[in-house]
Amino acid sequence: MQVPVALQSLLIQIAAALPVALFAALHPLETTPPLWLLALAQGSVAALLSRAWRQPPWWQPLHFGFMPLVWLAQGAGAPSWVYLAAFVTLLLVYWTTFRTRVPLYLSDRKAWQALDALLPTERPFRFIDLGSGLGGVPLYLAARRPNGEFAGVEVAPGPWLISRMRAWLRGGRVSFLRRDYEAVDLGCFDVVFAFLSPAAMPRLWQQARAQMRPGSLLVSLSFAVPGQHPHDVVPLADGARHTLYAWRM
Ligand SMILES: C[S@@+](CC[C@H](N)C(=O)[O-])C[C@H]1O[C@@H](n2cnc3c(N)ncnc32)[C@H](O)[C@@H]1O
Repeated sequence: MQVPVALQSLLIQIAAALPVALFAALHPLETTPPLWLLALAQGSVAALLSRAWRQPPWWQPLHFGFMPLVWLAQGAGAPSWVYLAAFVTLLLVYWTTFRTRVPLYLSDRKAWQALDALLPTERPFRFIDLGSGLGGVPLYLAARRPNGEFAGVEVAPGPWLISRMRAWLRGGRVSFLRRDYEAVDLGCFDVVFAFLSPAAMPRLWQQARAQMRPGSLLVSLSFAVPGQHPHDVVPLADGARHTLYAWRM
């Protein structure tokens, strides 16, 4: 059975706290190590457990730092609403990341320029960014391509609201929908852009194959579709992470 990564991480933190708490409880109060040392010990055990459970490598520093950060935050004496505000902010930005396995991180101008070069030059076309984040991609392209109609779809309320406000401030040429892109008919678009994650690509490919019209273009930044040879590969910088992959349907 596949345990969701959020649950795995919770179990790891609890499992790491148990031996440290037991160790502290068995010591007389005057010889108990200071809390910061216990927090570091708990973090180290948690990082080791994360490695043993074969979580992706970036979880190890997160597990290591979690309890020391809690200790630091407590020492700083921040009021309790700060924690609530931080939680709500993270919730609004990351929303269903535990399900989609696609967090928010932003593409850059170099990628947008390379994407621009793949768009039709003369004829009208419709473009959508799947998982549009703060709206940077369609807003940038819309300002340069009067022959295009641009949209973005974003599931997380925080980034979606920011992209709506940015579009409104720029005169509203780009529409942003708040929904799961799996509920969008890709057949309505000539160019579909995605900057998601390796986990999302196989399902996206199925959706694109089922819905996109012949001749339309699927472009993915950084993540290829396993087993599907792209028609165009545009390297943007050193390293495979900065590459555009394009498939003509
Ligand atoms: C890596 S970011 C890319 C943001 C933007 N496209 C860019 O290039 O800067 C991926 C975005 O996709 C959103 N996302 C993930 N799964 C989604 C889904 N199923 N439907 C809509 N948005 C999704 C995430 O919330 C996140 O904002």
